[in-house]
Amino acid sequence: MTFYSPVVTNAKEIAGHDKLHLFEFVEDENQHKLNRYLEHGGYTAWKTVLGKMKPEEVIEEVKKSGLRGRGGAGFPTGMKWSFVPKDSPKARYLCCNADESEPGTCKDRVLMERDPHVVIEGMAIGAYAIGCHLMFCYIRGEFHHCIERIEKAMEQAYSKGHLGKNIYGSGYDLEMIVHTGAGAYMCGEETGLLNSIEGEKGMARIRPPFPAIEGLWECPTIVNNVESLAAVPHIINRGADWYRSMGTKKSAGTKLFSLSGHVNRPGNYEVELGFSLQKLIYDSNYGNGISDGKKLKAVIPGGASTPFLTPDKVDVPLDYESLTEAGSMLGSGGVIVLHEDTCIVWTILKLIKFFRHESCGKCTPCREGTGWLEQIIQKIEDGRGGPDDLEKLDSICGNILGRTICPLGDAAVMPIQSTLKDWRDEWLYHIEHKKCLVNQNFGF
Ligand SMILES: Cc1cc2nc3c(=O)[nH]c(=O)nc-3n(C[C@H](O)[C@H](O)[C@H](O)COP(=O)(O)O)c2cc1C
Ligand code: SF4
Repeated sequence: MTFYSPVVTNAKEIAGHDKLHLFEFVEDENQHKLNRYLEHGGYTAWKTVLGKMKPEEVIEEVKKSGLRGRGGAGFPTGMKWSFVPKDSPKARYLCCNADESEPGTCKDRVLMERDPHVVIEGMAIGAYAIGCHLMFCYIRGEFHHCIERIEKAMEQAYSKGHLGKNIYGSGYDLEMIVHTGAGAYMCGEETGLLNSIEGEKGMARIRPPFPAIEGLWECPTIVNNVESLAAVPHIINRGADWYRSMGTKKSAGTKLFSLSGHVNRPGNYEVELGFSLQKLIYDSNYGNGISDGKKLKAVIPGGASTPFLTPDKVDVPLDYESLTEAGSMLGSGGVIVLHEDTCIVWTILKLIKFFRHESCGKCTPCREGTGWLEQIIQKIEDGRGGPDDLEKLDSICGNILGRTICPLGDAAVMPIQSTLKDWRDEWLYHIEHKKCLVNQNFGF
């Protein structure tokens, strides 16, 4: 039997490792089945929570663990749960954000395909903590195998009483719905996701009110990333202190990184936060160096929305604070490596085409600005650039950054701004010589 996604993981090195946990069983061919999940201690945390813990104790434990959201923003998970009003008479909802739409990121997919029950167990614990009786798993539509695996796991969980009415005789009821998207980046943005579940267009909502106060059908709603929720059963089983013992003071725990681009061994790797980016790229247990023996040119460390890093900044710990200090962001953990033959203008053109296409169009700076950026960058790429084009790019980026309803606008311009700063000579070369500085030939 073959796995659905043939990705490289470091799961074999993790087996028996007392710290790394998210990938501990993902190379086990039967981990997606309920029996094997139970053999590996599955649903123990859920039983502990329902049998022994009050919702506020669960929130406290997750707060104490220092777990921060793995969807991109790094917001503390326990704190987000505590924002749900305790005295609200309205229904509460929990949505697992399984849209995984950030380019360069494919780690949630591995969890859903290979260890779907841990995602469901994490969702259930989160739901209980906020007093929710109906939870959604919003999966991107193209992820057929994830949908299949999560749906099958959900059926098994219902059939053995891990979901449904009066779970484990506790009196607690919890239902689950799998909702599939239709391939829009914006439906990974939490308010776009909520609109999509409600049957509306996947457009951002103006905040406040934040979803924890008014989300689905104006009821308190928590949206959490797959990886964030999958960490929760481990935190309950092994304790907040164990989780805190990993990572750094402000960035606790482990994180999944999707390493792609010009490396010899692309794959998904679980490492403690604070792990060296340099090691992730060069160590033979991870990326094993730059492909074709080339030199490194740039790294996009946190998915397509994050500023590029120059090679001299690659010796940086992979945690929220260090990457911000280095001028970029940890984001979703999608590390994209570019070697010396990559044209920066060409790369940025690919990115802006994506962001322009995915802009939901609700606010003017993003709707119009991403289109203008694409036109100018396409002109430069085609050898039709003019002397004032870089100032125009600077100005348009400056007028989008921080002026939009959702972070997609910032995401579109931050990579451009970083390359205009750090690779300005290459942009100028393109304009003056009407061609790339490098001899790029990737065969596409
Ligand atoms: C354009 C855009 C796309 C996003 N796509 C995703 C996504 O695919 N998955 C995800 O978990 N978060 C995504 N996010 C972040 C979510 O809005 C939200 O912050 C996250 O799901 C919260 O979960 P967390 O607290 O567990 O990180 C996206 C944000 C933006 C602005
Ligand atoms: S920033 Fe872009 S994607 Fe976000 S609301 Fe505005 S138009 Fe829509």
